[in-house]
Formats: sequence, structure tokens, C-alpha cells
Amino acid sequence: MEAKLVSESATLMTDLVLPGETNPLNNMFGGELLARMDRAAGIAARRHSRRVCVTASVNHVAFNRPIPLGSVVTVEAKISRSFNSSMEVYLDVWIEDRESGIKKKANEAIYTFVAVDDTGHPVAIPELIPETDLEKERYIGALRRKQLSLVIAGKMKPSDATELIALFNE
Ligand SMILES: CC(C)(COP(=O)(O)OP(=O)(O)OC[C@H]1O[C@@H](n2cnc3c(N)ncnc32)[C@H](O)[C@@H]1OP(=O)(O)O)[C@@H](O)C(=O)NCCC(=O)NCCS
Repeated sequence: MEAKLVSESATLMTDLVLPGETNPLNNMFGGELLARMDRAAGIAARRHSRRVCVTASVNHVAFNRPIPLGSVVTVEAKISRSFNSSMEVYLDVWIEDRESGIKKKANEAIYTFVAVDDTGHPVAIPELIPETDLEKERYIGALRRKQLSLVIAGKMKPSDATELIALFNE
């Protein structure tokens, strides 16, 4: 299977925030943003693996900045690392200033997707080639984040999380 670049699966989704998608403070519902991020990440995972991909875990979400009604929101999804059947997908969320058009970072998140066959069983996927400094930084950190996620999910013994342990010993 041929390794792929991050740019080959990178996905940009831009859409407005409409009245049905806000809370009583007229800011976007967290759940609406989670759904948009899930869709963008799912498309990136499918583009990378060319397989059906399912959300295995939401590893991290930071709602740093409220997103007001009427905002133009761009969700950028990039695979940060692929393993055997799973992929870490990094989401950066931007809002656009109405007058200047300048984009400000509003939120970020990290999801894990797994490529599966027609019966829902995990299948092997291509490796990822990081190119930019940011892609390389996220690629390196992905293994310890995977171990942390597996430990929290009860799928890995803490003593087996070697990358994570090394982080605390630095
Ligand atoms: C995700 C799913 C396919 C994993 O199946 P599984 O039988 O646990 O398979 P495995 O244990 O072999 O794990 C498959 C991969 O997922 C990874 N994985 C599983 N759970 C994970 C978690 N919580 N965090 C990070 N990675 C995880 C494993 O490490 C493995 O990665 P690798 O093959 O790249 O090394 C299965 O749990 C599933 O179908 N879940 C439901 C998915 C879904 O419906 N999502 C939408 C929710 S509405």
C-alpha cells in the first residue's frame, strides 16, 4: 500500500451558523460543532484510507472561543498519523471576521477514526508522510495520544504505554 501525504486527504468544510444551531446566548451549540468536526474528519479519513471509516474516539476538544450566530465557520481536518487500521485526525476550526475576512482560530479537536471492511472489521490502511514542521510535530505526538486514549478506554495497561511514560520521565 502506497504511503500518502497529509495534503492528499486534507478536508476543508465552510458553512454558516444558522439560528437553529445556537444556544440561548446566540452562540453555536457545542454539539453542532462536534458534528461538523466529525463529518470533516470522517471525509479526511475516508480520503486517506479509501475505506468506510468509523469514529472510534474523540480524544480532545477545546472550545476556546464562542462562535456567534451568522459566523462563517471553517473546519479543517488533517490526518496527523495513521497506524494499522486507525488514524488520528486533527481538527482546526476558524471563524472569519465579517468585515476584514481575516480568519481567527476558534477551536481545535482530535478524533480517532478506524477503517473497516463491509462487516465492520478493522482493515489495514496506508502510512502517512508528514511534510511541514507542524505535520511532523503532530505526527510525533500522535503515538502518546493514542496510548493515552487506549489507557483511558481500558484497552491498554498503563505499564504498556511506553511513549506516555517517557513523556512523564522527561
Ligand atoms: C472502532 C471499532 C471498529 C474498533 O474495533 P475493535 O474490535 O475494538 O478493534 P481493535 O481493538 O482491533 O482496534 C482497531 C484500531 O482502533 C484503535 N482503537 C480502538 N479504540 C480506540 C480508542 N478508544 N482510542 C484510540 N484508538 C482506538 C486500536 O488501537 C486499533 O488501532 P490500530 O489497528 O491502528 O493499531 C469498533 O469499536 C466499532 O465499530 N465501534 C463503533 C464505531 C461507531 O459506530 N462510531 C460511531 C459512533 S455513533
